[in-house]
Amino acid sequence: MSVTEMKSSLVEEIKEWKRKRNAILLAHNYQLPEIQDIADVLGDSLALARAAGNTSADVIVFCGVHFMAETAAILNPEKTVLLPDLEAGCSLADSITVDQLREWKAEHPGAVVVAYVNTTAEVKAESDYCCTSSNAVEIVRSIPEDKEILFLPDMFLGSFVKNETGRENMHIWLGECHVHAGIASHQVEGVLTQHPEAELLVHPECGCSTSSMYLVSEGVLPAEKTHILSTGNMLKHSKNSDAEEFIVATEVGIIHQMQKQNPEKRFVPANPEAVCPFMKMITLEKVLAALKENKHIITVPADTAERAKLAIKRMVSIG
Ligand code: 13P
Ligand code: SF4
Repeated sequence: MSVTEMKSSLVEEIKEWKRKRNAILLAHNYQLPEIQDIADVLGDSLALARAAGNTSADVIVFCGVHFMAETAAILNPEKTVLLPDLEAGCSLADSITVDQLREWKAEHPGAVVVAYVNTTAEVKAESDYCCTSSNAVEIVRSIPEDKEILFLPDMFLGSFVKNETGRENMHIWLGECHVHAGIASHQVEGVLTQHPEAELLVHPECGCSTSSMYLVSEGVLPAEKTHILSTGNMLKHSKNSDAEEFIVATEVGIIHQMQKQNPEKRFVPANPEAVCPFMKMITLEKVLAALKENKHIITVPADTAERAKLAIKRMVSIG
């Protein structure tokens, strides 16, 4: 059997098992192309959390990373949430522990804690608000100005939000995603030199996001052609824009969907090595095994889930 034949027979089996189990397949924009192609819902963190909260399926197969499946489990304690590979973690979520957060809160009594969705359920349970890259600015704006804010764990997204909101009383945890931190401004500038007409799409978790904003403010990068966006908004923008070429500063998996939606446009990665090893752990074989063998079930202890739910509910209701 050729590789293509093997893949299509796996896809057929997955479809059959999905029907048998009344399952839905949610996939993040960084997943492997073949996973993106079979997803019932493909999206950014916010869209997937919303889809997980609205489904009538009995089983949610989460093609993404552990914290995403945890969020789905918190929103749906009565459903079975499966993560096809338990090793699919996140270096950003690992950059703050619940003990570190408790210590930080003790140093700033009364501060409002805003946690990016890329955090463990335990960290969310100690937070007042969760946010994603698509609503972080709105969430911070919704908090009364006199309130001190602790923003965690991503320092690049934190600086972006601080800059956008002009918020002085916002402290930022020094965490990072190793994939996005590796997309540096010199790489973006190099690619821009080769593609001077292209629009630049930057994820706010990127190491280059702060310098891109600075270069826009200095007039080095044209403001109308530079956009700092979540993965979902990058997809919308590339579809709606009249530009023919885009430089994409985020995990390269998203380019599959961009190209599929816009076959006539060109998408150039800012750093072709920006590949998330955790996102790529989910394969067709593992999705099928998850459905057949009911693995790996993601659960969150009830008291942690109860406390985390409030912060997550605020996230899905804003933006
Ligand atoms: P968004 O898809 O929400 O923009 O987040 C990117 C990310 O790094 C998910 O892990
Ligand atoms: Fe985590 Fe970065 Fe991978 Fe997103 S790309 S899942 S933030 S390690």
